[in-house]
Amino acid sequence: ANPVSPDFSKCTTTVDPDINCCPPRPGTEIIDFVASAKQAYERKPAHDASETYIQQYSKAITKMKSLNLTDPRNFYQQANVHCVYCDEGYPQSGYPSQKLDVHRSWFFFPWHRMYLYFFERICKNLLDDDTFTLPFWQWDDASGMEMPGLMYNDTKLSLYDCLRDPNHLPPTVIDLAFSRKDRMKPPIPPNIQIKYNLSTMYTQMITQSPTPQKFFGQPLRAGDKPDPGEGSIESLPHNCVHDWTGDPAQPNVEDMGVLYAAGRDPIFYAHHGNIDRMWYIYNNVLKGKNITDGDWLNSSFIFYNEEAKPVRVKIQDSLDITKLGYTYPDLTLEWKKYKP
Ligand code: C2O
Repeated sequence: ANPVSPDFSKCTTTVDPDINCCPPRPGTEIIDFVASAKQAYERKPAHDASETYIQQYSKAITKMKSLNLTDPRNFYQQANVHCVYCDEGYPQSGYPSQKLDVHRSWFFFPWHRMYLYFFERICKNLLDDDTFTLPFWQWDDASGMEMPGLMYNDTKLSLYDCLRDPNHLPPTVIDLAFSRKDRMKPPIPPNIQIKYNLSTMYTQMITQSPTPQKFFGQPLRAGDKPDPGEGSIESLPHNCVHDWTGDPAQPNVEDMGVLYAAGRDPIFYAHHGNIDRMWYIYNNVLKGKNITDGDWLNSSFIFYNEEAKPVRVKIQDSLDITKLGYTYPDLTLEWKKYKP
C-alpha cells in the first residue's frame, strides 16, 4: 500500500514570483485527527446572507488578519497553507525527491474539504460561536451567478479584496466555462450566459462524471510524480471561477487566478464551499460513489487546528461531513434539467 503524506519538517518553496509560503513550523507534536463535532450546522449561500451574518464573518476575518504572523491561524498563513500544498512545498514522506501537490489529482476534493474545515473551526473559535459556518458561493444556480457583492464587494469589510477583475464585479454574470482568452470576447447577454452555465453544470456533474475516478481525478500514490490529472469539476468550473475572478492587470492574475495567492482573497473560501457542496451533491443527490482504494483513504495531510496545533487528517476522516460539524441545505438544482 502506498498512501501519500507530506514530510512536514521539510518545507521549501520557491514559487513564481519568488515568495516563500511555508507556514510557521510548529515546535509541537502532530496530533491525529478525531472528528469531534457534536452537532452539524448548515452552511448557507453567500448571496442570501443576512447583514448580521456578513458582519460576523467579516469580524472573524478581521481577527484572523490581525493575529500575529507567527501564528498559523493568521489569515495570510492560512493562505500559505494552500500555497505550500499547491506549489509543492512539502516532499512526500519516504520520497524526499518527490514533491507533493494536491491539485490535478484525486486529492483535490478531500484536501480542500479539510482545509475549509479547519478554516471554519478557526472562525468559530475566534468568534466564540460554535454555530458559525462558512458561506458558499452558489454559482451553479442563476441566483448566485455573480460575485456575492454585499458580502465581498464592500470596501469597508475585511471580506473585500481589491485584486479582482474590475470588469467582473457585480452585476456581471459569471461564465462557468471561462478561459483567459475569453477576456477579449464581447460579453454574452446575461440570460443566455445563465443557460450556458446551467448546461455546463449538467455536463460536468453528470456527463463527465460517470465514474468516481472521472469525478475525483487521477490516482496519486506515494512516490508518484505530482499532477497525474484532474477530475471533471476541478477543471471546470473550478479553474474557470478562479481565472474569472482574478485581476488580469496583475502579473499572475492575482489573487484568485494563481494558486499561490488564491487563498488571500476571502472569496476563495466561498468558491471552495460550493466545490465542496458539489461533492456532497455528487454523493447525496446523484448517488455517486467515493473512491474505495486504500491508498486514497489512508493518505493524510497536516493542517493547523483552532489552537494553532498541527493535526494529521486521513482522507477517510473527511468523508462524512456531519461528523465534521456541517451540512448543506438541499436546494433545487435547476441544472439537472439542462442536459445539453
Ligand atoms: Cu486549491 Cu481552488 O484551488
